[in-house]
Amino acid sequence: MAGNIKVIVCPDAQSVARSAAGIFAALIRAKPSAVLGLATGSTPEQTYAELARLHREEKLSFAKVSSFNLDEYWGLDGDHDQSYRYFMNTNLFKHVDIRPWNTQVLNGRAANPFLECQAYETKILSVGGVDLWLLGIGGNGHIAFNEPGSSVDSRTRLVSLAPSTIAANSDGRFFKDPAEVPRCALSAGIGTIREARQLLLLATGAKKASAVAAAVEGPFSPDCPASLLQDHPGCTFIVDKEAAAGLKAPRN
Ligand code: GLP
Repeated sequence: MAGNIKVIVCPDAQSVARSAAGIFAALIRAKPSAVLGLATGSTPEQTYAELARLHREEKLSFAKVSSFNLDEYWGLDGDHDQSYRYFMNTNLFKHVDIRPWNTQVLNGRAANPFLECQAYETKILSVGGVDLWLLGIGGNGHIAFNEPGSSVDSRTRLVSLAPSTIAANSDGRFFKDPAEVPRCALSAGIGTIREARQLLLLATGAKKASAVAAAVEGPFSPDCPASLLQDHPGCTFIVDKEAAAGLKAPRN
């Protein structure tokens, strides 16, 4: 199964961001009403900064774009400074002309998580599906909050976070203490993500090298959720040299 994922290796994180933003910009210019899938975490921050620059300096308009975010911590309000709604508002949405009502981030305080997840899936279908979904990757190979063991056809649902994810997200970049990290999240499923027409996964830094190698060159297996993208017809990874270090086959 391995082999379908296209890998682009860039010299550094800044060029990863520029390439990724360029791909998003080209899509939005070709299709102003594009449906974007978006991600959070440290990795996409520079990509969002570059998209904001393209909006400011090169008239890239998000006025007709709609967006769906991968996931949200369960139990956090959207105005909590560690919620993914807050992350998206501060890193991208407030810097571009996207209409707030066209931005979908799962509600981590929904009265009924099952109904919240169902409504999210229905909304994706109602706009014709996601054109291009941006992804990061966890050190354990997770995508969104689909931890190892998640099935290839999983849908948007309430999930538990792996201890390594709780540790990674409380290393001072986001939460300061593991005790503060919610134990659960709402996450788009792997099946949900795989329905996007194009997938663009970004990875930077040596901490991602083994996950990237497992995803691209390892078996198609729920042990590494990102490997479940191997048979997607339009999946590209853009990685820096450090994140590419574990790959055996030569790339570009
Ligand atoms: C988080 C998010 C993922 C993200 C990943 C990597 O837990 N739920 O969507 O891709 O972990 O994050 P980072 O880019 O900060 O390494």
